[in-house]
Amino acid sequence: MKILIIGSGGREHALAWKISQNPSVKKIYCAPGNGGSALEDKCENINILDIDELLAFSKKNQIDLTVVGPEEPLTKGIVDKFKSQGLNIFGPALSGAKLEGSKVYAKDFMKKYGVKTAAYESFKEASSALQYIKNCEYPIVIKADGLAAGKGVVICDNQAMAEETINAFMLEDIFKGSGKDIVIEEFLQGVEASILSITDGETILPFISAKDHKQILDGDKGPNTGGMGVIAPNPYVNEEVMKDFNINVVEPTLRGLKAENMDFKGIIFFGIMITSKGTYLLEYNVRLGDPETQAILSLMKNDLLELIETCLEGNLSSYKLQWKSKSACCVVAASSGYPGIYEKGFPINIEKSLKGKVFIAGAELKNNVLKTTGGRVLSLVSLGDNLEEAKSNAYKELKEVNFENMYYRSDIGVMHS
Ligand code: AMP
Ligand code: GLY
Repeated sequence: MKILIIGSGGREHALAWKISQNPSVKKIYCAPGNGGSALEDKCENINILDIDELLAFSKKNQIDLTVVGPEEPLTKGIVDKFKSQGLNIFGPALSGAKLEGSKVYAKDFMKKYGVKTAAYESFKEASSALQYIKNCEYPIVIKADGLAAGKGVVICDNQAMAEETINAFMLEDIFKGSGKDIVIEEFLQGVEASILSITDGETILPFISAKDHKQILDGDKGPNTGGMGVIAPNPYVNEEVMKDFNINVVEPTLRGLKAENMDFKGIIFFGIMITSKGTYLLEYNVRLGDPETQAILSLMKNDLLELIETCLEGNLSSYKLQWKSKSACCVVAASSGYPGIYEKGFPINIEKSLKGKVFIAGAELKNNVLKTTGGRVLSLVSLGDNLEEAKSNAYKELKEVNFENMYYRSDIGVMHS
């Protein structure tokens, strides 16, 4: 089989690594991929970003399956385009991608189908939003409707901050259209978990739970990033939470997917908040998380290609996911200065003796040397018999990876609620 993987991050490197393990895979094209996918077995990077060009490439090269990593091509309708030309692609059509592409749509969907979520109001006019915040109990959470590269959610502690946020999103239009509409919602206190799942539209199969660490500094301080590290499973996601999550989030979501006739064969990723009043859904994503994927695929025993094919055939109901009885700790190494300004172009050294798996994100391969090109440069995943062992292995093994200006959090796996 010939596979095309779209995207350039650590998540896509992990997808290439895992899919290449299937013996029927002869070739994987990564568009555009990165220095890590360039080094992976059977993989070749191709420098194509445009959806129509990707489609032409898939036809010309008789690609058997396309796997989409990031949300952007999904919300631009790549799945609808590929399918209309008879091409096999894994991911939701536009109708499903809206669950991530529009927060207003997602919240209305949750309300319509009874998914437990924070109380909210949505606004199209700044004047009504500014009026509304006069009578709120603080803190409140303000969310830009559209995609905003992880920067579209602000927790506002008081009215002045809420006013500033509404002005920036709706009037100054800092997200170039994505913040024209907003959601204002109730602030929930609790512990977050990422539950990535696969769905064929008839069944939702949750993967092992994970815990992302979104902020740049230890102790969950500083600005949000794409994710600085992950542990899996998430120690707070016990049987009771899973039961609550199934009843209040998964089942109503599935009812909605069916009722809306969404052509949804892909990933549905639930960002949840576990509170003293039960489990709430914060958001849907319609693609794998980064760096959740690096940790989760390291624990998955199943063959990923076989799982995707079963999903595309609509046969997930009889499929059994299997996980290693281990914990994973994934620590992201970033360029110092990220998520602000940082220097790049530094060579990366990885000792041959390294036991954990390095997934490259922001680095290119030039003359056989990996050089930093991005903010999040790489992630290291280590396993252990339990969380403590996985954490201690990850930090021990990270000493065997280095580049100038390397920065990482030293508390991945410590839970700050
Ligand atoms: P979202 O993109 O909706 O997941 O929001 C990004 C982050 O903002 C989440 O991971 C939470 O940390 C935080 N957040 C979002 N909604 C809420 C809420 N209603 N209450 C508290 N924190 C929230
Ligand atoms: N790590 C969070 C995300 O991928 O959205």
